[in-house]
Amino acid sequence: MQSYEKLLLENKAWAKEKIEDDPQYFDRLSHLQTPEFLWIGCSDSRVPANEITNTQPGEIFVHRNVANLVIHTDVNLLSVLDYAVTHLKVKHVIVCGHYGCGGIKAAMTNHDYKQVLNMWLRNIKDVYRLNRQELEQIQDEEHKFDRLVELNVQEQVKHLANTSIIQRAWKNEQRPDLHGWVYGLKDGIINPVFEMKAGTHIDPLYEYDDL
Ligand code: CO
Repeated sequence: MQSYEKLLLENKAWAKEKIEDDPQYFDRLSHLQTPEFLWIGCSDSRVPANEITNTQPGEIFVHRNVANLVIHTDVNLLSVLDYAVTHLKVKHVIVCGHYGCGGIKAAMTNHDYKQVLNMWLRNIKDVYRLNRQELEQIQDEEHKFDRLVELNVQEQVKHLANTSIIQRAWKNEQRPDLHGWVYGLKDGIINPVFEMKAGTHIDPLYEYDDL
């Protein structure tokens, strides 16, 4: 059997088990999607949103990319954000990074990953530059790496708050709250590192006055 065929086989077994447990399971899910959370996470296969939060299908709307970046020209991310905030009306947006992130580690090197990875990782180098003073005081490389993972999550949460999508929702509906979390690959524990409640003051440079 090919490895991908095992996935299809396991899928059949999973669906059968779900229906045995709860005959209405798929019926209910197919008619309703009202997740309370939008999750912006890393594509890393070791950080599956539902599994590490012990949640079920239907509970979390998910977007994942390399190193969980929020880039203001990323139509994919912004479409997910707009749909989740404006239409699904999620109450919380979570940016979840993880210690040991390969994307962050790569951005800390001078290696040429060629386009397009260089383009993507460049955004993380910018986060390093913005926090250079703090980072370069850290002697231990592993500790510095962990701290950049945390600072990256913090910066991406700020990027969310700088969008008109979030600002409009904050003004009109006092939601969603924004959360920056970091997951530990070694212990499975999520460390909350940053938060912006709905209505938090942001840098006036990014404020829209005609929402
Ligand atoms: Co990662």
